[in-house]
Amino acid sequence: MELKEIIEIRQSIRKYKDVDVPEEDIKEIVAAAAKAPSGKNIQNWHFVAIKNDELKVKIADAVGVKNEEIAVRMDKVDEVQGERFRKFYKHFTRFFATAPVLTVVYSKVYTPSGYNELSLVGGAEKELWDLVDYRSPGMQSVGAAMENYTLAAIDKGYGTCWITSANYAAKEIEALLKEEIGFEKEGYFMACMISMGVPEEDQKSPKKKPVEDVYTFIE
Ligand SMILES: Cc1cc2nc3c(=O)[nH]c(=O)nc-3n(C[C@H](O)[C@H](O)[C@H](O)COP(=O)(O)O)c2cc1C
Repeated sequence: MELKEIIEIRQSIRKYKDVDVPEEDIKEIVAAAAKAPSGKNIQNWHFVAIKNDELKVKIADAVGVKNEEIAVRMDKVDEVQGERFRKFYKHFTRFFATAPVLTVVYSKVYTPSGYNELSLVGGAEKELWDLVDYRSPGMQSVGAAMENYTLAAIDKGYGTCWITSANYAAKEIEALLKEEIGFEKEGYFMACMISMGVPEEDQKSPKKKPVEDVYTFIE
């Protein structure tokens, strides 16, 4: 498929056909993701691709437990918001349990240019935080890999949905994967997940802003 067409048709896919995704395809897609640029070529990513249905459900359940834990506390402050949080989990998180493939994406901390230098000259905590967390070049690198993953998946006839709405249960997911499959990697933490499979037809996407709203050109 032409890149222009892939970019045009890309949309987040939350409903999948019950069609198998062979491991060769997943590996090729991850290889495309790993070709992405990264700050200082750190390649701060690791992809744990899961086809096992039981494990996907266990991950979704772990997120569900944490969601309910937070929602119960929210109910005491604002019941409407507590219910909204539960619904969000139901519609925008839990769907990954039935996706043919769920990839949990790990990352590690990236030390941005200027961080060590600023530390050395006694830079303020806020200035250092601004470099690492706010501008977050480490996560920008992961984002580049995620987009490669997405575009390569479409080229193979799949659809994906990038998922960060389970990140409040990231620690629980990391512990579960350690317990269930023995996965852990020194210095790495869960950054996000991405579901993948053959898309069901007629899925809707929200409108995008016109380019004029997001573009400034100076001649
Ligand atoms: C960093 C990131 C995190 C996202 N997290 C979720 C998520 O947790 N659940 C979900 O259903 N969609 C998630 N999405 C998909 C967005 O909701 C979607 O990209 C946006 O609404 C635009 O729709 P489109 O992708 O169909 O164009 C995420 C997208 C990005 C880039």
